Amino acid sequence: MKPRAYITRRLPQAAMDIVIAACDTTFWDNDAAPVPRDVLLRAVADVDGVLALLTDRIDAGLLDAAPRLKVVANMAVGYDNVDLPALTARGVLLTNTPGVLTETTADLVWALILATSRRIVEGHRLIAAGGWTTWSPMFMVGQDVHGATLGIVGAGRIGTAVARRAVGFGMPILYHNRHPSANLEAQIGAIPGASIRYAPTLEELLVAADVVVVMVPLTPETRGMFGAREFALMKPTSVFVNASRGPVVRERELIEALKRGRPWAAGLDVFEVEPIGADHPLLALPNVVAVPHIGSATVATRTGMATMAATNLVAVLTGQPPPNPVNQV
Ligand code: GLV
Repeated sequence: MKPRAYITRRLPQAAMDIVIAACDTTFWDNDAAPVPRDVLLRAVADVDGVLALLTDRIDAGLLDAAPRLKVVANMAVGYDNVDLPALTARGVLLTNTPGVLTETTADLVWALILATSRRIVEGHRLIAAGGWTTWSPMFMVGQDVHGATLGIVGAGRIGTAVARRAVGFGMPILYHNRHPSANLEAQIGAIPGASIRYAPTLEELLVAADVVVVMVPLTPETRGMFGAREFALMKPTSVFVNASRGPVVRERELIEALKRGRPWAAGLDVFEVEPIGADHPLLALPNVVAVPHIGSATVATRTGMATMAATNLVAVLTGQPPPNPVNQV
């Protein structure tokens, strides 16, 4: 008897094939829309493993509906969609997809840094609206990226990849983690021309940085970490970039801060409640660049993440240790 698996979205075929080869597999046959909750709860009733996405809430209610469940393979590095203590309490393993998306997500962070600092989207919109009439000295002026101080809040794998790229722009780097990281400082410090320094407090980083990049995971400690007080500490010329999770930022307070011009602009890949609609107040602000949670969205990386999640799922269901466990059961 093969183990039974449920996949909550139609994934790239290479990933589907890994699961199908090892498991009796059912899946939500749609590559765009998430599986409705009631369909999901029925689908997991007799499965041993679920391959889930960050749009699926994996909580005690789902565990109640899935008494045979042994593993949830999340196709994301973040797992704030999962109630981890509830899984661990019931002996259900969680796996994630670290590493594979690091460089791709760092690229997207840089796209946001450059687009916000140099007003790329605003300029495109202006031309499209027929607003480009002449060249003038202070028309569409932005902020310099080269030589600016980069402040990274949450310098893990992705934050480190963002920092590496900053050296090419001649940017001194400040980072704030709970603890200084000798490994990070050695890695970046080894690059000729690099300068990296630990900021023991968030406040110190916010006051000094010209570009603030947030890459912390969403946890009870980081929820709402950025609000009116933090934005008021930033320079009126600073750019704020969030490619971690939306609820790390108190969005209403960010909107008010952006209206006052401190931070000067924001580049956002994530939002408090996703997806956001065309009427979202952030989109009415000229100094916002918003993209729809696409940090890891390249063909190669999303295919790699799907394959990795499938490999983790199948490992557990065939009695092997998974390559990327999050918990121990
Ligand atoms: C995407 O946001 C991820 O956590 O992989």
